[in-house]
Amino acid sequence: MKINILKTALLSVLFAASLSLSAQTDSNVKAVMDNILTRASVRSFLEKPVEQDKIETMLRAAMAAPTDRNLQPWHFVVLNTPEAVAQYAGDGERAQRMKKTPLIIVVCADTARMAKGEVREIWIQDLSAATENLLLAAHALGLGAVWTTVHPIAAKVENVRKKLNMPANLYPMCAIRIGYPNPERKAEPKDKWDVNKITYGAWK
Ligand SMILES: Cc1cc2nc3c(=O)[nH]c(=O)nc-3n(C[C@H](O)[C@H](O)[C@H](O)COP(=O)(O)O)c2cc1C
Repeated sequence: MKINILKTALLSVLFAASLSLSAQTDSNVKAVMDNILTRASVRSFLEKPVEQDKIETMLRAAMAAPTDRNLQPWHFVVLNTPEAVAQYAGDGERAQRMKKTPLIIVVCADTARMAKGEVREIWIQDLSAATENLLLAAHALGLGAVWTTVHPIAAKVENVRKKLNMPANLYPMCAIRIGYPNPERKAEPKDKWDVNKITYGAWK
């Protein structure tokens, strides 16, 4: 009799725990999906520095990305002072916009850690996964960010390498501009869902 009561009590506790677990999982899924679906490229920022703990959270997200054979062939250059940002921005009209960026993270390949032979180019996929993780972390932290192209434009690659005096083993793929979004130039997320871009199974 006592054992039956104990069994019933234990089952009730387990059932309640599983209910609260699935409820929590559902809200986690919603939070993650909301973060992905509401991200948009932000190109206008407040003149407010990005806190060090937020920089580290974004870098942790970037380095959590999957990579081919777990090679992690990356290096992140953090430009978080007006001087460092100005050094990256250089001169000219476009540079003025770049200079208004509170934080730039240059995502680089570390050629010493890259795969060799036929799969060498897979570093682009590795670094792109890291970059997207970083963009999503920025958005979750209330920051805005935009991916800007460096690779594959050879002149840009050389320019960035020169401006930052990069060591020979580093090769910049992109620069992520980050800061607190300017509410006067709000970036709206785009609805890109398109069933025509999905095929289930093979073609006949
Ligand atoms: C590989 C890549 C390169 C990009 N290069 C630039 C760039 O050089 N300058 C820029 O303003 N945005 C750049 N973007 C951002 C895209 O313009 C943007 O992601 C796209 O228009 C979709 O908008 P969304 O990010 O708001 O969804 C780049 C994005 C990717 C993925």
